[in-house]
Amino acid sequence: RENALAQPVGTTLERYIMRKQSEFAYATGELSQLLRDIALAGKIVNREVNRAGLTSIIGAMGQQNVQGEAQQKLDVEANIRFIRALTNGGEACAVLSEEEDDIIHTGNCQGKYVVAIDPLDGSSNIDVNISIGTIFSIYRRVSEVGQEATREDFLQGGRRQIAAGYILYGSSTMLVYTTGHGVVGFTYENSLGEFFLSHPSITIPATGNVFSCNEGYWFDYPQYVRDFLMQCKEQTMSGRYVGSLVADYHRNLFTGGIYLYPPTRKTPQGKLRLLYEGYPLAFLIEQAGGLAMAGTEEVLDIEPTDFHQRAPLYIGSPELVNRLLACAKAVP
Ligand code: AHG
Ligand code: MN
Ligand code: MN
Ligand code: MN
Repeated sequence: RENALAQPVGTTLERYIMRKQSEFAYATGELSQLLRDIALAGKIVNREVNRAGLTSIIGAMGQQNVQGEAQQKLDVEANIRFIRALTNGGEACAVLSEEEDDIIHTGNCQGKYVVAIDPLDGSSNIDVNISIGTIFSIYRRVSEVGQEATREDFLQGGRRQIAAGYILYGSSTMLVYTTGHGVVGFTYENSLGEFFLSHPSITIPATGNVFSCNEGYWFDYPQYVRDFLMQCKEQTMSGRYVGSLVADYHRNLFTGGIYLYPPTRKTPQGKLRLLYEGYPLAFLIEQAGGLAMAGTEEVLDIEPTDFHQRAPLYIGSPELVNRLLACAKAVP
């Protein structure tokens, strides 16, 4: 666990990273630089998000991404900003993005890390001023330094991540991440352009009163999911669903709760992508004391085969995820 006492609330991200550097598995400062690069891109996207209504970057691009989704202008804008920041920072040799068919080689062949990223999560909420986010996942490359990154660098599996986190562009903008020593949260101060340590050690409540899913797909849901949701309703739990995974996830991380994206007719493997949504959020939730399942298998144990593969996601407070699991096991 992060030693919460080691750093006072209010220290800057920069100072925090420098002092924590000794804890990183590869204490050579590269991971520190990577986190700085991600924070920088986050500041730039935060500014675009805050101005979205005033500039011409709301609305759709009129083109689709590899997922067959109508790309929003801010999807494309955020994608460019994160790839540029990671390229200029020099530590990432390649980036896998939701918005790109194939991996993007940054030219930093000496870079020892690769980053999988959802540059803008919750795109359907951009034009209606509802919270959106960015999700990132960091691996140490397995291919030879000095060469270009390979597919294998990105298909190492969820338990090989060395860091993961998200940025939430919400009522305040926060950066929340883990390097495998617990979960830490920083809050952005717009007037100073700095992230300040606000949550030295975040853990999820063991249970909670919230379930988050799009019940419009009720008739698509597997029986065990309906059984679980019926239990939630019999206990008059609260349904809370923003339609932005990062926003729903972050709220449940603090209040306790469970987020579900089950298989649907349209997306038999669920809608969420494993490499830049499921894996990073599963790594984070386990570091915060929670659970992440994809049916009866742990998300982090799913074998990666494709950059944009999807997987069901049931994630949050351990008691709630285990209750869902019991329903899954009870169905003959
Ligand atoms: P993205 O905007 O990165 O494509 O992800 C959207 C995801 C997630 O943020 C959200 O929880 C979910 O899609 C909403 O899907 P539905 O509209 O099907 O509920
Ligand atoms: Mn999308
Ligand atoms: Mn997403
Ligand atoms: Mn996205």
